[in-house]
Order: sequence, then C-alpha cells, then structure tokens
Amino acid sequence: MASRQHINTGRSQSQSQGSENRLFIKGGKIVNADGTEDADILIEEGIIKEIGKNITLPGGIRTIDAGGKLIIPGGIDPHTHLQLPFMGTKSVDDFYIGTKAAIAGGTTMIIDFVIPEKRESLHDAYKKWRGWADKKVCCDYSLHVAVTWWSPEVKEEMENLVRCQGVNSFKMFMAYKDVLMVKDHELYEIFEHCKKLGAIAQVHAENGDIIAENSKRVFSAGITGPEGHELSRPEDVEAEATHRACVLASQVNCPLYVVHVMSKSAANVIAAKRQEGCVVFGEPIAASLATDGTNYWNQCWRHAAAHVLSPPLRPDPTTPGYLMDLLAQDDLQLTATDNCTFTHEQKKMGCRDFRKIPNGVNGLEDRMSVIWEKGVHEGKMDASRFVAVTSTTAAKIFNLYPKKGVIAVGSDADIVVWDPEKTRTISAKTHHHATDSNIFEGMTCHGVPDYVICNGRVCVDQGQLKAVQGFGKFVSRKPFAPFVYDSLKEKDEKKKASMIPVQRSGFDGEMVSKTTTS
Ligand code: URP
Ligand code: ZN
Ligand code: ZN
Ligand code: ZN
Repeated sequence: MASRQHINTGRSQSQSQGSENRLFIKGGKIVNADGTEDADILIEEGIIKEIGKNITLPGGIRTIDAGGKLIIPGGIDPHTHLQLPFMGTKSVDDFYIGTKAAIAGGTTMIIDFVIPEKRESLHDAYKKWRGWADKKVCCDYSLHVAVTWWSPEVKEEMENLVRCQGVNSFKMFMAYKDVLMVKDHELYEIFEHCKKLGAIAQVHAENGDIIAENSKRVFSAGITGPEGHELSRPEDVEAEATHRACVLASQVNCPLYVVHVMSKSAANVIAAKRQEGCVVFGEPIAASLATDGTNYWNQCWRHAAAHVLSPPLRPDPTTPGYLMDLLAQDDLQLTATDNCTFTHEQKKMGCRDFRKIPNGVNGLEDRMSVIWEKGVHEGKMDASRFVAVTSTTAAKIFNLYPKKGVIAVGSDADIVVWDPEKTRTISAKTHHHATDSNIFEGMTCHGVPDYVICNGRVCVDQGQLKAVQGFGKFVSRKPFAPFVYDSLKEKDEKKKASMIPVQRSGFDGEMVSKTTTS
C-alpha cells in the first residue's frame, strides 16, 4: 500500500490522551477504497506512523487486537444539520449529541451546513456556526455554506470564505420558495462564481414553484396528513430540478453535487448526465437507501411524520434497492445522512397541516451499519466500495484526501475496527440521538464498530462509547480539489475552442440602423 504525503493536523499533544498517544492495532485486515492488506498499524500523536508487519514498538503503547476484524477509515458524513434553526424550531441533535452519535456508529468526521437567512451576511452566519460547533464537537468537522440570496456582497463573501475560512463548497436550494430558494438566473451566476473560486456547487434539487402550488392544491383537497408531503412533491419534481441543475452547471462547466438523491428518476438523471461527460456527483442518504415512502401512509400519524423530510422518501418500495445498485456501480458516488432530527413534540407543529411538519430525519449514527447491511451483506458491493462510498469519495470531493478517507502513513488516525459479522438491532430506545424516534426502528444490521478512533483517541472502546465534548477540530478545505477539478481542464479548453466567431467576408444585404414598427 503506497504511503501518502504527511499532513500536520495542528492538534496539540495535550488534547490527545496520555498513554494512548500511542496505539498499535494488530492482526486486522486493512480495507481502503483501492484494496486490502493484512497489516498492523502504529499510531502516534493522532497520526498513522507506520503500516506493515514486524513493526518495532516504542514503550508505553496500547495494543488493540483486531484479529478477524476489518480496519477501515472512519466514516465521513458530508451532509448533516446539527442544531439547525429550521421551520420555526431547531433540530435537537446539537454538535455534541450529533457527533457523539456519529462516533457511536463509526463516523469520525462530519460536514455540516451553514444556512444564512435571506439578507444575512454569509460570513456572520459562518462565524455563528463556528461558535456553536467548535466547543461541542467530539470529532473533526467542516462546514459548507448555503447561498440563500444573491448580490455583489454575497459574491465577495463567497470569495473571502474560500480564501480565508477553509470553505470550498456552497449549497443552493431550488426549493423552500420565498425562504431559501434562489432563482435560475441566480443559480447560473452562482455556479459561474463557484467555478471561478474552485469550489463545488451543491444543490437541493426540487422545483420550489411547483411544490408551492401543489401543496395548496393537496391541502385544499382535504389532505392534511404526512402523505400530503409526498403527494405535493412527487419524484418528477425532484428529477426535473436535478436535470435543470445539471444543465445550468454544465453551461459554465461548474462541478455539481446533488445532495440527498431520493428517487429512481433523479438518480437516473445523474447517471445519464455523467455518461454525457458532466462532472456531477450524486449523494443518496441512509434514509433513501434503507426505507421508503410507504411510511407516509402509515395509520399512525407519529410514525408517518417521523419520516417527513425533503425531498420525501418515495412510495415505490423498490427505490432503496435501486439506489443501492446505482451506488454499487458508481452511477451514484457517495453517501450521507442529511441528519436533521426533530422530536415528536416538534413534528406535532404540523399535526393539522403537513406543510408545517419540520422536515428532517435521523441517520448519523446508523449510516455505516445500514449501508453495510443493505450494500455489503446483501452482496451488492465489496468492502472496498463500502469504504469509498462512506468515506474516501467524500474526502476526495471535498479536498480532505489523504488527510482523511484513507488508512495510510501520514493520514489522520481516524480508524474503525469493524466487526462485519456482529449484528445489532436499531432502536430509538438505545440510540444516542436526542430524538424519540428512529426511521430504521427494528432493523437488524450486520456490521458493528468494536473500536472507533478519532485522531488517535479511542472513542469507542470494545463497544463502549467514550466521546469527549470539544475534542474535535474544524478542518479547513482548500479550493480546486484535484478529484473534481482535474477533469474540468479539458472541458474548459473544449468550451473555449467552441467559442470562436465565424469570420465572414462581410454582410452583403441592406444595412438597417434602426428597426421601426408600424
Ligand atoms: O428535510 C430535510 N432534508 N431537512 C433538512 C434541510 C434540507 O433540505 O436539507
Ligand atoms: Zn436539502
Ligand atoms: Zn406508531
Ligand atoms: Zn440537508
């Protein structure tokens, strides 16, 4: 296995734990996205120092026996909403509870979204999110920033965020009309600007205008329950916006990332656009890969409302399996959760009107197990593909690689000792989220983390959770991620080459200086 470039994490020694400053993981099978290797791992000061057999060990070292287990890069969840102020309330998993739940399930880094209100300074919002997160996170984290309005000031703030604050991804909403949505001509300019800055553009792809009209119509027809949520935003409303985003982004060769892909038809759009050569990435989430929209028709309002998120889960029960097939064959590229949890008490805000049910579900703790179960255990993908879709590809797209997303010399020691045979049954009674329901309730999954190591610190120890508030750090990300931008150079050349005016000998008709209408 090749050793990768050493990167200094900047984490002070006092933040690592005493004797566990040094760790030795022996006897496991290392699984990376590009292959596997039976080898031991030496960790010092939060960094992987050596990989191999017959490593000479320094004194004062703790040994973890990983015999018969897999050693995988810690999961990276590139889509969470912790303590998000949203729809008149706030998601209940804060940066402490959310990252603790993440670690419990084998995820060692998250990327959350700063979502400024319209007219709010992007920079101020970014600072607000840092203020919330820095002191609470148990694992490393980074931030995307949403562009919810458009002006010359916003344009300048985006540039500053990229240059000075370690942001290389911006998300735009094509839904939530009048609240977060931007219009097509704005999207075009934002994509153009992202491209110039070397950032990646992300979209929540649903047609907000259609949803606004449909919601009124569905509600007027007497449908007030959670099924109205899906009926007002069916899958072609997602597919149309996905297609439109791809078309807009490709006009300016801007790399595009479609968050929370929920339907077969939206996934098909992404697969087809990739075939055409567009640089677009599709992110199904744990929810869309493991459960479906039939839940909205459940007799129990509480159960149905717990599944409300946007875009919605799809009533076609073959959707999760279909999305997993596309993920396995790289028509979709990586997974996230969109973790945005609300309690039943909060969901009840919409008990008489589905439009008022706070949108969002859990996933952060269960993503790794759920994808192992539905992807690897069901025989659709191998362990290396699992690592790619839960960690490595996110690290590459968001320019964290090889600091994150790989087990290699010089990389951060974000490592999971994974027992592929052990099982656990998911339940709100035992999960670490702050919410009182779990959309995967009762699902038994193979694949359980025995140890979770964040920057060299053992945070799950033989299944025992030992997360520490404030241990995580903000991770800056540079623009022009090679994984995203390298392939664009050629496309830019081609586009430039096609922008040559035809040299004509001259216009030989009658010259008209001004048209007149009679
Ligand atoms: O329903 C969802 N997805 N809630 C979180 C906000 C968003 O749209 O991602
Ligand atoms: Zn969204
Ligand atoms: Zn129930
Ligand atoms: Zn989201």
